[in-house]
Amino acid sequence: MHDMTFKALVVHEAGEGRFRRVVEQRRVSDLPGGDVLVRVHYSSLNYKDALSASGNRGVTRKYPHTPGIDAAGEVVSAPGGGPEAGTKVLVCGYDLGMNTAGGFGQYIRVPATWVVECPVDLSLLDAMRIGTAGFTAAQCVAALQEAGSRQDNGPVLVTGATGGVGSIAVILLARRGFKVTAVTGKETAHAFLRELGATDILTREQATAGGNRMLLRERWEGVVDTVGGDTLATAIKSTRYGGTVTCCGNAASGDLPLSVYPFILRGVRLIGIDSAQCSRARREEIWNRLSGAWRIDNLADISTVIPLAELDGYIERMLQGTIRGRVVVDMQEGE
Ligand SMILES: NC(=O)c1ccc[n+]([C@@H]2O[C@H](COP(=O)([O-])OP(=O)(O)OC[C@H]3O[C@@H](n4cnc5c(N)ncnc54)[C@H](OP(=O)(O)O)[C@@H]3O)[C@@H](O)[C@H]2O)c1
Repeated sequence: MHDMTFKALVVHEAGEGRFRRVVEQRRVSDLPGGDVLVRVHYSSLNYKDALSASGNRGVTRKYPHTPGIDAAGEVVSAPGGGPEAGTKVLVCGYDLGMNTAGGFGQYIRVPATWVVECPVDLSLLDAMRIGTAGFTAAQCVAALQEAGSRQDNGPVLVTGATGGVGSIAVILLARRGFKVTAVTGKETAHAFLRELGATDILTREQATAGGNRMLLRERWEGVVDTVGGDTLATAIKSTRYGGTVTCCGNAASGDLPLSVYPFILRGVRLIGIDSAQCSRARREEIWNRLSGAWRIDNLADISTVIPLAELDGYIERMLQGTIRGRVVVDMQEGE
């Protein structure tokens, strides 16, 4: 078992700041130490993976490296404690795929504290159709509701709406009875967003209009922002009195050009959302919600399932911002 080989996407430094990605054979004995060995059935592509796979040192310090912040599979062995062999588990976030070999390999070995049992009502495939992106969307929606956002107070703005986090946020909000305004740069995706439940659509230009003013007309009861920068700043300036903004991403920028006025004159609340280190209790609560009351019945419509051999091209597309919905990697295809 220890020297068994398996396939993994490995990112290598190719000199002069370039990186190359190759599907290679690895050995289980190459994996880092850890309590639980998991055979990965499915992984999924998240924005952070695209950064790791293209040499972003803020995400991954050392190469060669196997990215993949999400993994769904079954426990092979857990000599150091953890769920018994055969248990269906999810490993999402923590250091997986950052500086620990991740879910784009057919096996991972991780600390027992990173392992969450997959809810019985959720298949491993659907869990990865949701993945960290969908989990993060659910955390944003939960945070808005916990902060008191109400359906009858006005629309919720979702930015980067055709992306993984954005598309699932649109679905979850619409199903909870919120009116959703979606921001997208994809002219061809308006019908897709309306099918998910968006009632209004803004272009990226419209979503940053009036950006040099300190406050703008009050519009949003809540915001799910995945892109940062001017878009987030404009959204905060347009949030109504007492409204709540959740900030989870930086697909456009890590900057936030803003004054204090939305906070001190309108009582706007800005809530940061993190899925990598969030507590185990919160993780279980959100996954249980996603397999129960917040179950999404059309996950297949917003996701594409690909073999490991096609992942390289999808990473490139994610960096260009042209992917729609979620990408799941079938790690056992052809086995
Ligand atoms: N805090 C956390 O724990 C956490 C967890 C998951 C993800 N994230 C972050 O959330 C963000 C979205 O992740 P994802 O997996 O949903 O990525 P994704 O699938 O690539 O979606 C990002 C979307 O943002 C929009 N976008 C891309 N470049 C843009 C630009 N320059 N200006 C404006 N909009 C742009 C695009 O949507 P449109 O074409 O529709 O505009 C794109 O589809 C990323 O920054 C990611 O790192 C954070």
